[in-house]
This record gives sequence, C-alpha cells and structure tokens, in this order.
Amino acid sequence: MALLDKHKILEKNATLLLIFSFLVVTVGGIVEIAPLFYLENTIEKVKGVRPYSPLEMAGREIYIREGCYVCHSQMVRPMRDEVERYGHYSLAAESMYDHPFLWGSKRTGPDLARVGGRYSDEWHRDHLYDPQSVVPESVMPKYGYLEHRMLDPEKIHIADLMRTNRLVGVPYTDEMIEMAEEDFRAQADPDADHDGLLERYPGAQTRNFDGRPGISETDALIAYLQVLGTMVDFSTFQPDPTR
Ligand code: HEC
Repeated sequence: MALLDKHKILEKNATLLLIFSFLVVTVGGIVEIAPLFYLENTIEKVKGVRPYSPLEMAGREIYIREGCYVCHSQMVRPMRDEVERYGHYSLAAESMYDHPFLWGSKRTGPDLARVGGRYSDEWHRDHLYDPQSVVPESVMPKYGYLEHRMLDPEKIHIADLMRTNRLVGVPYTDEMIEMAEEDFRAQADPDADHDGLLERYPGAQTRNFDGRPGISETDALIAYLQVLGTMVDFSTFQPDPTR
C-alpha cells in the first residue's frame, strides 16, 4: 500500500508525472536502440557485397547531385507485386556501404535498386540524353549535358571521398585509396590492365560506358547504374531464417 500511496503523489502532480514518464520512455528507448549501433549484429553479411569502385562512387555522387533520388527509390520491398516487377527484395547488406543511403520515399519513376544489367549501356546513354526518345511518355528530364562534362579523378578528389567514406565505416584499404585515380581511369578504359582493379573490386564491369572518348559524367553514372543490385548472386543466396 505504501508504494501505491507514493504513486498517488505522481498522479496528483502533472509536472512530476511528465518527468517520470519521460524517464521511463528514455530507458525503454535506449534499451531498444543502443544494440542497433553495433552494426555487426544488425546487418547480416552477404557474399558479393563490396564497396563501390572509384568510378561507380563518382557516378553515385552525380546521381545524388542531380537529385535522381527525388523521383527514384532504391529499395525493393518484400511484397509480391514489387518482387515480380523488380526482382529479389532488397537486403540490408546491399546498402551497407551507402552513405547516405538512397532508399528514397517517392517513385515518380521506377525503383532502381536492381536496374543493373537490365538495359544496355547504349540504352542508358540514349535514355539519359533524351528519355522521351526511348520512352515517349516519360516525364524524366534530359541529362544530355552530363556527357560533355569530363571527369578528372584528381579534380573531383575521388581519393578524399573514399577516405571520408572510410571514416564512416566503409572498408576501403590504404591500397584502394592509393590506387583510386588509376582504378578510376582503368575501369572506363577497355584497353587498360584490369587485374588490380578486379582484385580490389571483384566483378567490377570494365568498358567505355558511354561509347565516347574520355571519361564523362555519363560514363560514371552508367557504371553506377549498371552495378546497382548486381553484387549479390541470388541464384545461390539463402536468407538465414534464424536472424
Ligand atoms: C522528374 C522525375 C525524374 C527524375 C528527376 C529522374 N527520373 Fe529517371 N525516370 C523517371 C520516370 C517517370 C521514368 C519512367 C519512364 C522512363 O523510362 O523514362 C524514369 C526511368 C528511369 C530509368 C529506367 C528504369 C527502368 O527500370 O525502366 C532509369 C535508369 C532512370 N530513370 C535513371 C535516372 C537517373 C540516373 C536520374 C538522375 C540523373 C533520373 N532518372 C532522374 C523520372 C525521373
């Protein structure tokens, strides 16, 4: 009874009740949220997921700069209509190296989480240049100017960008950062030696993405679009039901 009498004090004093309610919610919140800070036990590691190569990373920056995420999401939800349209639902691990993540919340255009490999480079180039030329009813803006903007890996500070990503947990090695500019050029050059690049970024696609001389922003953007959703091999992937 003594305890209930003490509780009466709380019930009769609105300010005190507010303070104690706040305390209870805070403790509950910490208990639920704190474990999530230890990413290792939150995100299931999945084979094949690797950090972006320097060229893909540069493409991702252009994607962000141009606001593509305003019209395109990058997350396939685990619902039948989405899985039938876009492919396997997105795994947390697939965006574990995305800082910031680009899941998005609005779909004026389709989800792009699995667009890699769905179209040819030429299709992407035509589509970026003039979306209505390939999809007449499209409301997507034209991005033709990107192919006239050439990229110099030194000027865009690609190594610094990778260093920054390492600060927030992306496992770029010293070697990857040291070779950033070389890897950047090699990926867009079909005649370059790709052994080092492929060792650092397994499965990286190497070619002249926009079919034009030099490395343009279109090259980087297409390299990024073509890797989206392709890192995990879903013919062998088995979700772990115990997690
Ligand atoms: C104003 C909204 C809007 C913006 C901004 C936008 N898009 Fe789109 N996008 C669309 C629409 C609508 C479609 C569907 C029609 C089409 O294919 O053009 C589309 C289609 C696409 C497709 C084909 C997807 C598929 O599965 O068929 C790709 C790839 C794409 N957009 C990439 C981009 C990129 C990269 C950017 C940024 C440079 C961008 N979009 C910016 C609206 C937008």
